[in-house]
Amino acid sequence: MRANIVVLPGDGIGPEVVEGALAVLTAVAHHFNHTFITSTHLMGGCAIDEMGTSLPDETLNACLQADAVLLGAVGGYKWDNPDAKDRPERGLLALRKGLDLFANLRPLKLYPELMAASPLKAEKLTGVDMLVIRELTGGIYFGDRARWTDDAGEEWGKDTMIYSAGEVRRVAEIAFNAAQGRRKRVASIDKANVLDSSRLWRKTVTAVAAQYPDVTLEHVLVDAATMHLLSRPASFDVLVAGNMFGDIITDEASMLSGSMGNLPSASLGEAQNQHGYPRGLYEPIHGSAPDIAGMGIANPIGTIMSVAMLLRHSLGLEDEAAALETAVARTISAGHRTADLARSGEPSLSTQEMTAVIVQNLQGKEG
Ligand code: IPM
Ligand code: MN
Repeated sequence: MRANIVVLPGDGIGPEVVEGALAVLTAVAHHFNHTFITSTHLMGGCAIDEMGTSLPDETLNACLQADAVLLGAVGGYKWDNPDAKDRPERGLLALRKGLDLFANLRPLKLYPELMAASPLKAEKLTGVDMLVIRELTGGIYFGDRARWTDDAGEEWGKDTMIYSAGEVRRVAEIAFNAAQGRRKRVASIDKANVLDSSRLWRKTVTAVAAQYPDVTLEHVLVDAATMHLLSRPASFDVLVAGNMFGDIITDEASMLSGSMGNLPSASLGEAQNQHGYPRGLYEPIHGSAPDIAGMGIANPIGTIMSVAMLLRHSLGLEDEAAALETAVARTISAGHRTADLARSGEPSLSTQEMTAVIVQNLQGKEG
């Protein structure tokens, strides 16, 4: 296969973890005889510095032409001024919106050898295997917003949580379809005891559920969900949530795996690439970690596992995706750790060293 992949390293540790992911992608191409043509573009803080905008038109256009997009992370102290006109995060939101990527898939599988790295007891973690589907182009992230000062000199800020039934339906369908290929359970997260947008969410998800009689639906209030994620994490299969609730619960859920540095994500919409698969955006769920940027110690696994998702969802390369996931699992079970995963006293590998072991563990058709 020949595929065009746009690469957006971004800021902070983004370029470091993307370098690791590209080394792995090159190894996959070699082992399985594919041609992946990559082109690197600016997005985030680096784009503000060099182009004066967090999402240059040239970058968005390149993404629109690509088969898939691989992103590192955006943001950093330098661009943190809350009154700035543009911010790295704005570029990321504009990219998700510009590509109409309304469904963000965040799978969480645990590596048995890392259970000790999780703050939860191992007995709670046995059997944890969930997929969070986060709505990504609506809700409070994209509703009306304003900042103003009233006549009395008081400052105000406003955001609006807003969903149409159609926006809820399409993401709910993705969740139910995913559940059919898994343990056939969907937990829908909302705050329907208080919010109207959540009442519409719940009503719409319930209606979608009627088309999937083989899937069991439970509605969980978001506050209770954060509790259940700690008290009974293994009971969850697929979770579906609006943009902000999904953002919050996926950071929480990531800690079950010991480090959010391990977790990949795929953002998908309806647009297809030249191969007839969704043109997705793939990124680790972690941020740009400015505190360790440039030190070469970031965990590349979240980005490498995002490459596996890219191969599977945007290129239909299931064997390649599975081979990569196996290589990562082998690396972890052989005891290799980056600093975020190592327990105190345990030696840790650099980003490049970890990547090299994963590449070694990758076996292609010939091996
Ligand atoms: C994420 C991040 C982003 C989000 C930020 C960087 C805008 O936290 O992908 O989860 O809130 O969506
Ligand atoms: Mn987040």
